[in-house]
Amino acid sequence: MRNKMIFETHAHYDDEMFDKDRDELIASLPGQGICPVINIGASLSSCERTLELMQRYPFFYGAIGVHPSDVDELDEEKLARLETWCQKKRVVAVGEIGLDYHYEDTDKPCQKKWFAAQMELARRLSLPIVVHSRDAAKDTLDLMKEHRAQEIGGVVHCFSYSLPIAREFYDMGFYFGIGGVLTFSNGKKLREVVDYLPMDRILLETDSPYLAPVPHRGERNCSLYLPLVVEEIARIKGLTTQSVVDITYENACRLFNVDPCCAAGAAK
Ligand code: NI
Repeated sequence: MRNKMIFETHAHYDDEMFDKDRDELIASLPGQGICPVINIGASLSSCERTLELMQRYPFFYGAIGVHPSDVDELDEEKLARLETWCQKKRVVAVGEIGLDYHYEDTDKPCQKKWFAAQMELARRLSLPIVVHSRDAAKDTLDLMKEHRAQEIGGVVHCFSYSLPIAREFYDMGFYFGIGGVLTFSNGKKLREVVDYLPMDRILLETDSPYLAPVPHRGERNCSLYLPLVVEEIARIKGLTTQSVVDITYENACRLFNVDPCCAAGAAK
């Protein structure tokens, strides 16, 4: 089997932390083994910037959706706008969407309403979902079951829960986005989850500019640090780094319905 590149499934290259060197950095990725990249929308404005990046870079794909922290900007008219954007070429998922109860003042009913609405949007368009769930495991699972998310499919990005919760998402057929946290000294819980998961449910992601792996923890993250995550998965699973790269690449192509050959060719 030919060697593949690393498929980066979750980055925010529209973030202002990349303003000073965005084009240079992105242009360097395929040459350093990273291709393709999914840029993830998190608000209406970041969705627009995601579409711009996709125009500019043929190896960029996009996810369109509004993050739970920003759903107060949504209304029916804006949801319709998201729906139009989701139908553009190379938009491969609805996300990131979900629930985040980390902060005390969260409007839980509002988050649930728009998570549900965006799940239904994904169902209408036959797109997988990219789920963000923090400090909200039970409500996330309940709402996903209520909306039969197992029929929609998707990935739980930056999976942060324990093994019993991982089993529930696994049983719904979901993939798991694994990134820099795996290398943290306090990442034991995630290492247990990776040990448990079969390789065919693991995707590589950074969440750039956040969550840089050790030894870059605390710095701006970028996809060039993904080999550090690959090495840690390979160590846990007893696999070569190349097989981790190959398997996660195939997983991402399968979930996001990306043609492996087109993805590789787009870098040229
Ligand atoms: Ni993200």
